[in-house]
Amino acid sequence: MDKEPIQSYCVGNTLSPQVARTAQTRPVYIQMKLEHILGISAGYHDAAATVINSAGDIVYAGHSERYSKRKNDADLHKDMFWEFSRGRHIDHIAYYETPWKKQLRQLYSGQGIEWSRITTGQVLREQLGGYFSSVPVSTHNHHRSHAAAGFQTSPFDRATVVVIDAIGEWDCATIWAAEYDPQGRAQYRLLWRQRYPHSIGLFYSAITERLGLRPLDEEYIVMGMAGWGEPAYVDTMQILLQENLHAGVGHMFLPTAKDADIAASAQAVAEQEIYKLMQRAQAFGFSTNLVYQGGVALNCLANRKLGQYFEKVWIMPCPGDAGSSLGAAAQVYGRKIRFTNAFLGTEISGAYPVDAVIHSLLTDKITGVASGRAEFGPRALGNRSLLADPRGPDIKDRVNAIKQRQQFRPFAPVVLSEAAAEYFDIPPGFVDTSYMQVVGQCRYPTMFPAITHIDGTSRIQTVSNDGSGIRRLLEAWYARTGCPMLLNTSLNIRGEPMVNNRADADRFEQRYGVQVHS
Ligand SMILES: [Fe+2]
Repeated sequence: MDKEPIQSYCVGNTLSPQVARTAQTRPVYIQMKLEHILGISAGYHDAAATVINSAGDIVYAGHSERYSKRKNDADLHKDMFWEFSRGRHIDHIAYYETPWKKQLRQLYSGQGIEWSRITTGQVLREQLGGYFSSVPVSTHNHHRSHAAAGFQTSPFDRATVVVIDAIGEWDCATIWAAEYDPQGRAQYRLLWRQRYPHSIGLFYSAITERLGLRPLDEEYIVMGMAGWGEPAYVDTMQILLQENLHAGVGHMFLPTAKDADIAASAQAVAEQEIYKLMQRAQAFGFSTNLVYQGGVALNCLANRKLGQYFEKVWIMPCPGDAGSSLGAAAQVYGRKIRFTNAFLGTEISGAYPVDAVIHSLLTDKITGVASGRAEFGPRALGNRSLLADPRGPDIKDRVNAIKQRQQFRPFAPVVLSEAAAEYFDIPPGFVDTSYMQVVGQCRYPTMFPAITHIDGTSRIQTVSNDGSGIRRLLEAWYARTGCPMLLNTSLNIRGEPMVNNRADADRFEQRYGVQVHS
């Protein structure tokens, strides 16, 4: 019998108390072989789980909301347990943050302590309902989990890592030096941190709430609204940024201002703050590679200028807290993860229905596809997508009639990578533009009004020659029409998360009368 090599796994780390450039993380290693590591991010919003095997493959990564049908469900859903554990021996659980530190911060911020959620054991009992109770558990740092999710999935061996979110335990923004040691183990050194309550994420979420939208969920709508307004309140918002915005700004903040102007001002201020942080990260001089994580990394409008600060940029397709389930497991695994794409969730089996989708697009211009594994991350990338012919003036209204979303928001294009530069001015720096993470100017906005925003930008998803279903579909579409792109938006019933399984797709068909191919 072949003997598996014994590897060392990081099972925890602590942050030094110093708030200084020299602050270190101290990894703790054990010597043993782990078959499967389960990473969990749950308890606050958008619960998720990831399983990594001993070869560094991500064998499962999924969101609870896709099972419970509750958007941003904070708690793990039991149907996930069977999917992520079937036929697999889970021999370690990694939790993405440190509950007692979070509780201390909640006490400090006047939210009080939840005594039933002081320890990781308490939180996991609540989340796992007694399942996996004999499996050893490790607890990690919130921002380090973000950093590990990004760095260990990136193509880099050395990188500056920037994490910006609303709040972790205490940190709201951190900068890390990340590299692999000669044994291939990931090493993280904390270079800088910004602590609660000073937070770009909390600021943007407070403005989201002021505009009548759901904070920690609908920030992307604020970003879309920004293009329609003028940044008339930048000075006011810069003052606001100095305040503790955890409880929001209240509905009386700028009571007579237009919503679009508030959104444009918030976007302008957020960008200023993000770029200040990028400058600070660049100034450490550790690497010209940037790994960028945290919920704020989903701001694809701000992301367009990251190439001004770093030569190469990587954002993991699920950079928010759900992605930290991967980050927690990655810290225990300790080495580079074999990351190939974001199709890591529930499987709908069968060949990708290229011919059927092409037929529907040529006949009706709009159709759905639910095939292969579900996307990990907030974007539908072709396996749970509503697709449409992007040409012509009427298509946006037709797709909107199904999606019933705000008219001011554009849809995104999915385009063959070799044709992308002909149609879009793609910002420099991104090593991979497959994940709808950055906007670029559309060169032909009048030809493609449905996928062009009021400011002339498009949120681009390129597809390289990777053998994926969406790649074969785009090739076939191009061969038939000469158009190398499709409109791509998430396949979901209004108010629900993305379609997960075939039963969800059937409900979508019945609700909207649009065929969904599998
Ligand atoms: Fe976070």
